[in-house]
Amino acid sequence: MTVKDRLIVALDFDSKEKAEKMIEILGDSVSFYKVGLELFLNTGGSILDILASHKKRIFLDLKFHDIPNTVAAACRFAAGLESVSMFNIHASGGAEMIAKSVATKREDQILLAVTALTSLDDKDVDVYLKTSFSVSQLAQNLAQEAQKAGASGVVCSAQEAKNIKESCGQGFITVCPGIRFSDSDMGDQKRVLSPKEALENGADYLVVGRPITGAENPRAMAERMLQEMEH
Ligand code: C5P
Repeated sequence: MTVKDRLIVALDFDSKEKAEKMIEILGDSVSFYKVGLELFLNTGGSILDILASHKKRIFLDLKFHDIPNTVAAACRFAAGLESVSMFNIHASGGAEMIAKSVATKREDQILLAVTALTSLDDKDVDVYLKTSFSVSQLAQNLAQEAQKAGASGVVCSAQEAKNIKESCGQGFITVCPGIRFSDSDMGDQKRVLSPKEALENGADYLVVGRPITGAENPRAMAERMLQEMEH
């Protein structure tokens, strides 16, 4: 796998036009894009066809969470799209939901489990989930259960990637957002690492949004990111 295969650019835009313009600007410097709820909904899903027509790979970040039959039915559509290489579900949906989702995917597709949202803190899990576990213990436990149910990997902070690889094995895939150049704006991310640190920690894929898409020269920033990953 080349570094280009491991860089996923988050297309967080509120219109099809803005997303298309970014795909054009980035050109062949980026081959893998993440599509979340905002862009999926404001384009009526057509962003998937647009990316496919540009021969780009897609991480469909819709985080399914419902009863097993409903989630598996949605996964069947995601799995049926040639350009979708990665999609995700919530690990807290339980073993049956995960296993039924895994059964829908092609062998070359990666099904990721969302463990504990990084926006949660220890107080939230105490109040809402009535658990004395910390968020990171909860995330670790959910990662292990998701792996038992057949998930290919997790979305996690690059700071957690090392522990997850240690407890779930090197083959369990880690996809890590919260990546920043050492001199770039933190934005609203609190736990950030540089591309080099993230890869050293065991991140398999890096998800990068604003440091590239918000830059004056996005293509130059994507190339700089690839260079930093290479080293
Ligand atoms: O712009 P930025 O590089 O912060 O974008 C990171 C992307 O990864 C965004 O689409 C964000 O929603 C997503 N993400 C994240 N933290 C998580 C899970 C997903 O930043 N824990």
